[in-house]
Formats: sequence, structure tokens, C-alpha cells
Amino acid sequence: MSIRRIAICTGGGDAPGLNAVIRSVVIAAANRGWESYGIHDGFNGILFPERYPEGGVYRLTRDKVRGIGHLGGTILGTTNKGNPLHFPVQMPDGSTRDVDRTDEILQFFAMKELDALVSIGGDGSLTIANALHQKGLRVVGVPKTIDNDLDKTFTTFGFDTAVAFATECIDRLHSTAQSHQRVMVIEVMGRYAGWIALHAGIAGSAHAILIPEIPFDLDKVAAKIRARDNEGRMYSLVVVSEGAEAAHGQRAILAPAEIGHAERLGGIGEQVASAIQERTGKDTRVVVLGHLLRGGSPTSFDRLAAMRFGTAAVRALEEGKSGVMVALAFPNVNYVALEEVAGRMKGVPLDSDTLQTGRDMGITFGD
Ligand code: F6P
Repeated sequence: MSIRRIAICTGGGDAPGLNAVIRSVVIAAANRGWESYGIHDGFNGILFPERYPEGGVYRLTRDKVRGIGHLGGTILGTTNKGNPLHFPVQMPDGSTRDVDRTDEILQFFAMKELDALVSIGGDGSLTIANALHQKGLRVVGVPKTIDNDLDKTFTTFGFDTAVAFATECIDRLHSTAQSHQRVMVIEVMGRYAGWIALHAGIAGSAHAILIPEIPFDLDKVAAKIRARDNEGRMYSLVVVSEGAEAAHGQRAILAPAEIGHAERLGGIGEQVASAIQERTGKDTRVVVLGHLLRGGSPTSFDRLAAMRFGTAAVRALEEGKSGVMVALAFPNVNYVALEEVAGRMKGVPLDSDTLQTGRDMGITFGD
């Protein structure tokens, strides 16, 4: 069946480059004579159309996407609550039940005569996209996340911008750490994968990097800091991924998982800082970069990746593909089955040469 009208949705945490994908999909689709429609706030535009003046879905013309390629965030809005596969519904007895609302999405597509969906998101959104494809919707996924934890793609868009900003922050913290002879602990996002900490930590010349893939021992980190002091280098920088945990410790959690919403990580930076201060006697400070990593203008790498992904998603639909995610397999983009991506996570491999680069530069990983 030929395509006339496509819908675009952005789901999960925002990432720099989302608007560049939206713009590229709309332009590539318009160049084929197709109309594009944006869904508000993940799938909320479909599940709650009454909340939106235009009914939850609106026409994305070229005018609507003009001048947005360099902007952070998403003009469509997003949410990481209310996964339609496990939608939280309040029961009369006060308990919450998990309901599958994906049939409503299919009905909406049929009612609005939308022929296909471009779903831009991370693991959660691509798992939903896969379920919709299995129920018969034409779907192509685009891999987004600052965490870079999606399998089957060399990188996701958003990651490079997050790493560039974290590196700039680490650069800035060197001088204050050195001036005060302090230890600075920098906590970065990344969920259960240490990509942001690893790349920014090495690029920013940190002295210790703690990632979820390598359970750490703070005695080893303290020994590294003492050794630097003994050599006259009286300051140290420690980059900690939010999902990192001590060999015999526990992951730091701010809020537990709920139906339709993942647990919130955070707080490991404080724990690491007080343990280092206790072990070394050095003045220690913590900086939590948090959501700053998700903001700002995408780097040129992320803008280009976003446009390559967006236009490749349109080409995939034109070629009759469905149930695939656009991926980066240097030097080109390719397509991988959504079912090979859904529910899978890509952590830092322990034999990665980037990790080895850090070790050869004398950085401790706390192991
Ligand atoms: O997946 C992107 C991400 O920023 C993670 O790095 C982080 O753990 C999470 O989202 C934070 O989510 P929220 O915006 O709900 O606090």
C-alpha cells in the first residue's frame, strides 16, 4: 500500500537532535508528496485527544518545522510516563492496574487515515513501536537517547551532545579542583550504561571513572588520589555514572519504579564523595550534571546523525519496510529489526578499546 500520510512521535526523555529528526522526516516526506502529522507528548495525543485543542495530532507542514534543526527538546513534547503497553489505571479500590492500550493507537491511526508511524525514542519507545508493528501498524524506529544504551546501533543521537557538554564541565572543574587542592566528584546520567561517564571522563582527563559495568572499590579510588597527592598533584577528578555501584553496595535510587515508569537513579555522587573524604581526609565536592546533559543545541555530529536517521526512516517506509529501526553502522546507516532492539540494552563492553585507553592513560575504574 502506498503512503500518503505519516505520523511522528517522540517518546521518553528528550535528547538534543529530536527536532532535527522531526524536521528531516517532514521535509523528506513532503518531497515525496506525503503529509506528516505530529503526535503530542509521546502517545498522550492519541490516548487523551481531549487535552489538546487540535485533538492530539496536528499537521506538520514545512513551515511548522522551519528553523528548528538546531534547537534542543522536541516541538512535539514527550513523556516517559504512561507507557501504552503498561498503562497505569486507578481501580475503585485505590490500587493501580497495568492495562495494554495499544489497540486504541491502532484504531486512531485507522480513523485518521494515517498510513505509518515514525517513532523516535529509546528502548521503551522502540519496544512500544515493535508491539504496534506486530499488531499490523507500519512503523519505523529512530534511535534516540543521551545514554547511548541502545543495541544494534553504533550510536544514538543525543549522546555526542551530552558527552561534549559533560567534557566541558569536567574541563572547568579542573581549575577549581587544582586551586583548592580538592577532589571534585562529577555525577553524570546514563542509566545502567557507563557510556557518558567513560567518554566524557577520558576526554576531560578525569583521574577515576566509575561505571555500572565495573563494580567499584572506593579503597582503590582513594589509593589513586593519595598516590597523586604523594606525587605533588594535590587534586583529583572522579566521574561517576548515576548507575554505578560499589562491589558490595547498592545502586543509588531516588524513586522506585512504578507501573509505566522506570526507577529514578541518582545520589551516588554524594555517597562516593563522602566516602572519599572519609578515606583521604581531602576536601571533596560534588557536581550533579543531571538534566543539563539533555539540554542545549545538538552538536554537528548529532544534527547530522538525526537528519541521516530521519531521512533514512522515510526511505525505509517508501521501500515498504516496517518493524525496523534505522541504525548507524559506520560508515552508513542500515536497518535492524525492532525485535532485535526491543528490551535489549548495550552497556560498555569490558574489552572495549576505549576502556583500555582509559586504563593505559592511568585512569582508575575502581577495580
Ligand atoms: O534516559 C535518559 C535519562 O536522562 C537517563 O540518563 C536518566 O536516568 C533518566 O533519563 C532521567 O529521567 P527523568 O527525566 O524522568 O528524571
